[in-house]
Amino acid sequence: MLDARLAAAAAYVRSGSRVADIGCDHGKLSAYLAGSGRCPRILACDLRPGPLAKARATCAPWGEKVVLRLGDGLSVVAPGEVDDIVIAGMGAETICQILAAAPWLRAEPGRYNLVLVPATKHSALRQWLARNGFALQAETLCQAAGRYYAVMQAAYTGHPTEPDGLSCLCGKVAGQPGAAEYRAAQAAKLQKYRRGLPPGPEAAGVDALLNELEGTRWP
Ligand SMILES: C[S@@+](CC[C@H](N)C(=O)[O-])C[C@H]1O[C@@H](n2cnc3c(N)ncnc32)[C@H](O)[C@@H]1O
Repeated sequence: MLDARLAAAAAYVRSGSRVADIGCDHGKLSAYLAGSGRCPRILACDLRPGPLAKARATCAPWGEKVVLRLGDGLSVVAPGEVDDIVIAGMGAETICQILAAAPWLRAEPGRYNLVLVPATKHSALRQWLARNGFALQAETLCQAAGRYYAVMQAAYTGHPTEPDGLSCLCGKVAGQPGAAEYRAAQAAKLQKYRRGLPPGPEAAGVDALLNELEGTRWP
């Protein structure tokens, strides 16, 4: 049984696609994708042997459909070996590092479907994606273990953009259940960050964003 976060991630995986589940840990997502018949081949990958052993046990019923790989990020996946890539449950910095270390993701716009679930710093991941030529195409807001998660679906376009602060902060979740609470939680985090800043251009930028946030109605 998947929690709301992993269920939302699974929903972005295209039926029939070959998938890499990077940081698979317990292997629940890989097992679900194999067992539901949604995906013919899943690479369940993790940096550490302990989590990979858990995934091996969870995925055992699905035999050769799930292939286990030990190693860092996408270094264990060959270019073109998968169609969809899920990176869930890691901090935004780690997700950005994993994406940056795989230049083959950028060889062909639209080739790979990325499903990203940052455990922290949602805004930083949205900003990195835009600046590095990835389009954030959709997001699903969900709550698991009392926290909000933004489950993101993205693809490389080859067109870097400079995203505005408000869209980085709030994402593409307007109108979804919990969106107003998510926005308030994001604003509270930004206010906390602002309190630690010395006077200067960054503090002024954050103040401007907070003012904009206050003056903008949720669509
Ligand atoms: C909190 S678990 C998330 C498990 C699952 N994806 C989920 O969202 O429920 C994070 C997993 O990512 C793995 N991990 C961390 N950094 C990694 C990296 N650079 N490459 C592959 N796996 C990594 C950890 O070993 C751990 O098993």
